[in-house]
Amino acid sequence: MNVTNPLHELRQAREEARKAKDKLAEVVYITTISADGYPATRPVFSREITGDGVCLYLSELSPKFRELTANPKMTLTFHWPDIGRVFRVTGDASVIDNPAMESYWSSRHPTAQALAHFYEHVQQQSTAMASRDVLTNGIEKTKATLEKKGKAPLPKTWHCVLVKPHTVEAWTSGGDSRLHHRELYRRSGKDWKKSLLVP
Ligand SMILES: Cc1cc2nc3c(=O)[nH]c(=O)nc-3n(C[C@H](O)[C@H](O)[C@H](O)COP(=O)(O)O)c2cc1C
Repeated sequence: MNVTNPLHELRQAREEARKAKDKLAEVVYITTISADGYPATRPVFSREITGDGVCLYLSELSPKFRELTANPKMTLTFHWPDIGRVFRVTGDASVIDNPAMESYWSSRHPTAQALAHFYEHVQQQSTAMASRDVLTNGIEKTKATLEKKGKAPLPKTWHCVLVKPHTVEAWTSGGDSRLHHRELYRRSGKDWKKSLLVP
């Protein structure tokens, strides 16, 4: 049976999680495959969820970005405990142009903007620091440089990564009975097929 695009259900569930004031409403756990073959998972903020996929804003100067460039296969896990929903999305990542990044960038805290520039000009994300001073001093210097410019520009090393799913599992909690409801959507050409899974 052909069914509607599960990304609409995903977006709607995130909206419900927001309304329920779920603290994890904006968070998604993303898994890439690291060079040593082990899956690597970390939380990031999910940005736009469109009919095409899920957009993430990531620095190219990070292990996760290098990993998804070497191997675009990714899994994203959304967990919204306050509404009893989990979505597991598997798909392929690609970098896309996204004009919406600019307005999000302008809304970022000045220190968060400085951090993105710190990765470019002082030290890359997730590398080992000699001490915490490297960060605090480096951020102060970066902020001063950006203040002189008047406006912190969107770093060229920041990208919108679109994860285009080929499967989406939508899980709804059945509570203590553990009789959860699980629907697996699989892309089939332009359509989606749905099957029910044993919980
Ligand atoms: C709630 C939360 C949201 C986060 N959002 C982002 C994000 O949107 N982008 C990002 O690069 N890192 C984000 N991080 C930090 C990542 O979890 C991670 O520590 C960092 O990106 C380095 O990951 P990597 O070494 O695997 O590349 C977030 C962390 C938390 C706790």
